[in-house]
This record gives sequence, C-alpha cells and structure tokens, in this order.
Amino acid sequence: MTGPATITIQPSGESFACGPGETILRAGLAAGMAMPYECASGSCSSCKGTLLDGAVDPLWPEATGLNERDRRKGDRILCCQARPVGDCTVQVRPAHVEGGRDEPVPAPFAAGVEALERLVPGVIFIRCRPERPVPFLPGQFVLLQVPGGQRRAYSMANTDAETLDFIVKEKPGGHASRYLFDALSPGDGLSLEGPYGRAYLRTPPEREMVCLAGGSGLAPILSVVRGALARPDAPAIRLFFGVNSADELFMADEMGALAAEHDALTLTLVVRDGAPGAVTGLVGDVALAALEEVAECDFYMAGPPGLIDAVLRPVMRSGKVAPGRIFFDRFY
Ligand SMILES: Cc1cc2nc3c(=O)[nH]c(=O)nc-3n(C[C@H](O)[C@H](O)[C@H](O)COP(=O)(O)OP(=O)(O)OC[C@H]3O[C@@H](n4cnc5c(N)ncnc54)[C@H](O)[C@@H]3O)c2cc1C
Ligand code: FES
Repeated sequence: MTGPATITIQPSGESFACGPGETILRAGLAAGMAMPYECASGSCSSCKGTLLDGAVDPLWPEATGLNERDRRKGDRILCCQARPVGDCTVQVRPAHVEGGRDEPVPAPFAAGVEALERLVPGVIFIRCRPERPVPFLPGQFVLLQVPGGQRRAYSMANTDAETLDFIVKEKPGGHASRYLFDALSPGDGLSLEGPYGRAYLRTPPEREMVCLAGGSGLAPILSVVRGALARPDAPAIRLFFGVNSADELFMADEMGALAAEHDALTLTLVVRDGAPGAVTGLVGDVALAALEEVAECDFYMAGPPGLIDAVLRPVMRSGKVAPGRIFFDRFY
C-alpha cells in the first residue's frame, strides 16, 4: 500500500485515513475517535474488532489478545496490531472515555538515552530525551520498538515532556529485556511511539486517591502521584508500593522524601517477605484493608496482571470506588 487507506468504523459510520504502516488504533486516535484499548500491544483484547470488509496485516500475528475462538471466526482483529492493506470497514464496541478527546495523539518519535542506572538487581532506570517534547498525561506509556521489530510498552515515571523516565524490570530471557539490560548504553537511540494509555490522572481535588504499585508498576503510579502533587489543590493520596523481598525494594528514599515534602501523600511500603520500615504481606491485601478507612476515592494501580486481577473485583465490591473510577495498567 503506498497511499493512506480509508477506515470506516461501524456502527458509527465515521471514517478516517490510515497511513502506510500505521495501525488502525493509532490512526483512529489521531482522528479523534473514541477507540477502545488498554495495552496497545496485542495482549489485552480491549481493542478487538470485527473486520467487515478489507484486509489487514498484523504486526504480531500470534497476539494473545485473540483467543482460539476469535481465530476460528477468521474476521476478528486487534486494532492495535492491524495495519490495513487497502480500505477497511471495522466494527468495534464504542469506548466511553471521560476526557478522551483531550488525550494527546500518539505518534512515532526518536529519543536518545541520557542516563541508565541499575536501581536493584533486575531493575533499571532509563532517562531519555525525545527529539521533540512529547507531552503526555501522568500515567501514560509509550511503545518501544525493539531491534528486530517487536514492540513493548513502557510507562513514564515522570511528568514532563522534555525527558522521559522509565523503570524497567528484567524478565529473564525476555526479548526486550535482553536488549535493554544487555545492549543499551547512554548515547544510544531509541525508536518510540506514543503516548498511549487510559490509566492517567483525572482525580478532582475533593476526592481521595488510592494508588497501588507492584514492582515496576511503580513507574506510571509515580507519574500519577507526581502529577497530582504538582497541583496547588492536591487531593489526599495513599500510595502502596509492594515487592517480594527487601533486596527488590527500589526508590524507597525518593518516595520517602516526596511524602516528607507533601502532607497530602501517605506512603506505605509493603514487602512480602518483610523488610525494615515496611509492612510484611501482599501489597494488594494491605491496600484493600486500607480502603476501609477511606471515603469515596479514585483507585489507580499498575503491575503484574495477577496482582491487578486479584485486586480489581474486591475494589469494585468495596463500595468505596464509583463505577469507572478504577484506572489500571496490567503489565503483560
Ligand atoms: C501498558 C503497559 C505498560 C508497561 N509498562 C512497563 C514498565 O513501565 N516497566 C516494565 O518493566 N514493564 C512494563 N510493561 C511490561 C513490558 O511491556 C514487557 O512486557 C516486559 O518488559 C517484558 O518484556 P520482554 O520482551 O523482556 O519479555 P517477553 O517475554 O519477550 O515479552 C513480554 C510480553 O510481550 C508480548 N509479546 C510477545 N511477543 C510479542 C510480539 N512479537 N509483539 C508484541 N508483543 C509480544 C507478550 O505478551 C509477552 O508476554 C508494560 C506493559 C504494558 C502492557
Ligand atoms: S489494546 Fe489491543 S490488545 Fe490490548
């Protein structure tokens, strides 16, 4: 395909142009459509649609966001993975996104690695400087193109557009992990696309925030907390950060300093196997127990899918969080 394809979305009948190599999700978001999505990387199935007409070329053909049943049907696609081959008509469920039209438009950009530091074994901090400022909402993420073409999502831990800070946990044998931990150095260039993400800060000042981070899930949660604290009318924030063992605990001093500086922030470190200055246990259990003391709140969380799935239902049932006020990213 040389020129843009026309994508028609059903049932709305709205259409937009999708350039060569662009995904239907990115082109739709750029055109101001309320496209449904969560991970933007092929794993969650939120962006699943039915291809009514046309053909697409998937970025990741084996994407786990489509199950066996979807594949048997033959017309199911993931809009975050689908690059059209000519004009297409796609049926998607409408997304109801509060403030969705104010989300920054995702686009590809290059960035240079300014700093790379090991925080604890298996966790690195990376600071990049994009070729142009990349404004994003606190809690959003970008897609990193790993050499060889695969893409992985990484969340920003900071809030400003001039530099992007990442906290990355190593997955032994993982494709991106091998590159980021073994090959990347300061001065290297990165190929990124974004910002993406719907688990961004949107709490009004009068409502409390409960924020739960597991491991590298701290990155977007720290961005959300920093974004909220930067406002003159910061709401009360309870931040729960959990890891498995004392030697996995990172950035505890920075978070302690943030809590000391801001009365609005209460920090609870939770270490499963115990550590000085931390509560012993599972961070999900500790945060759920704390909900008892909270009036109505907004709930933010990020981390391994198992943690998010274990906490989601009890939070919804707690009666403390209104429908649509739980914002989360599962780190697939
Ligand atoms: C919204 C979001 C935000 C995230 N933010 C962070 C963060 O801030 N810090 C952090 O450490 N991690 C984050 N992650 C997890 C991160 O994206 C990677 O999954 C993780 O770093 C492991 O990647 P890997 O390539 O090393 O491991 P791998 O095992 O090689 O891949 C990890 C996952 O990528 C998917 N995958 C496999 N093959 C492909 C393919 N060909 N194309 C596309 N996807 C494929 C699968 O779901 C697989 O489980 C985030 C994930 C999501 C969805
Ligand atoms: S948004 Fe496409 S699979 Fe998650």
